[in-house]
Amino acid sequence: MKLKPFVQAALALATVVAATPAVHAAAQVEVLHYWTSGGEAKSIAELKKMMEAKGVAWKDFAVAGGAGENATTALKARVIAGSAPTAAQIKGPSIQEWGQEGVLANIDAAATEGKWDSLLPSVVSNVMKYKGHYVAVPVNVHRVNWLWVNPEVLAKAGAKAPTNMDEFFVAAEKIKKAGLIAVAHGGQPWQDTTVFESVVLGTGGAAFYDKALVKLDQAALTGPQMLKSFETLAKIKTYIDKDAAGRDWNLATAMVINGKAGMQFMGDWAKGEFTAAGKVAGKDFLCLPAPGTEKAFTFNIDSLAMFKVKNADEQKAQLSLASAVMSPEFQEVFNLNKGSIPVRAGVSRAKFDACATRSMDDMAAASKAGGLEPSMAHGMAIDSAKAGAIQDVVAKFMNSAMTPQAAVQALAKAAKTK
Ligand code: GAL
Repeated sequence: MKLKPFVQAALALATVVAATPAVHAAAQVEVLHYWTSGGEAKSIAELKKMMEAKGVAWKDFAVAGGAGENATTALKARVIAGSAPTAAQIKGPSIQEWGQEGVLANIDAAATEGKWDSLLPSVVSNVMKYKGHYVAVPVNVHRVNWLWVNPEVLAKAGAKAPTNMDEFFVAAEKIKKAGLIAVAHGGQPWQDTTVFESVVLGTGGAAFYDKALVKLDQAALTGPQMLKSFETLAKIKTYIDKDAAGRDWNLATAMVINGKAGMQFMGDWAKGEFTAAGKVAGKDFLCLPAPGTEKAFTFNIDSLAMFKVKNADEQKAQLSLASAVMSPEFQEVFNLNKGSIPVRAGVSRAKFDACATRSMDDMAAASKAGGLEPSMAHGMAIDSAKAGAIQDVVAKFMNSAMTPQAAVQALAKAAKTK
């Protein structure tokens, strides 16, 4: 992100603005996020409620668009204009990129008071810190390598729940023959990449995924397992309906919910949609590890990064927002709605459903066995320039007649993007 000259100018402007009386109500937080689907809106509404109960007004800055591409554009514009929000949904290595711009606030006061260092695994707290100081607060852990299944569709098609790629294609073929859509998908680059990374994980296993999509090792990127991954992706394409282009992820999930489609590759924010529709895990829908990825866990940790604010009142409200996010009450209610699991220790699992408790257990097991991997598609693994270039290749592959061989070459080149 090359914002530097703009941001410096913006900060200079902000200093001038700070000398004039604050325009905002004293105790107010403005939060930029992209949680606009049914389940997501319910989740973020809980934070609004909590802040209002503390006497802090909530200014919602919601920018629709899955995985946050539009939100990032809106955020850049606001920061450049010298009017950053109090907090924004920024995660993974991007936190460091924003930190380098000199625009993030130090929230150590909230972290020290709340003992965050002892409540968060260090792999998580390190990501939330810039140069050793907390600048962001984590809200959850999403698992990306899931397959969402409508068991009624399987039954109608005479298919069984797949545990590996071969079984997946057997089930997909039966669903297609039964006149239904086998794979619910939205043709947007980030959704394409979400499917792609689960296929890479299922094809090559966690160690291969790590070499290829985290370390960006050229030998792995151009090797036979990557070729096989693209071949598999090409086959998956044939089970997606012709209206998929541009479709939002939650509309694809709705197709599984209402029985138009059988399966969807998606992270567990999809579960938020099933829950919001009153559906019960294990009965109305199944959450299965994406085919062949049972022992692995690709994580996607959402967080709110805090921006430098102009006066003491705003700073107090900001710290209070950070503390609310880390509270066990928020982590429980937010994640029950969002489909994810709490990121901090000390939250009871009593109210969580079968998918969430499986996620908790699988994460612990994968962590021990070496299968816990950052999601590349969701901004956890590599810098935004490389991730963007890889996403472009995958989207092109999904939307053209590009061969797997050509895709492998293009991918290896994209991984070298500076
Ligand atoms: C992910 C994000 C989730 C969810 C999803 C769809 O990247 O981490 O919280 O919002 O995109 O927008």
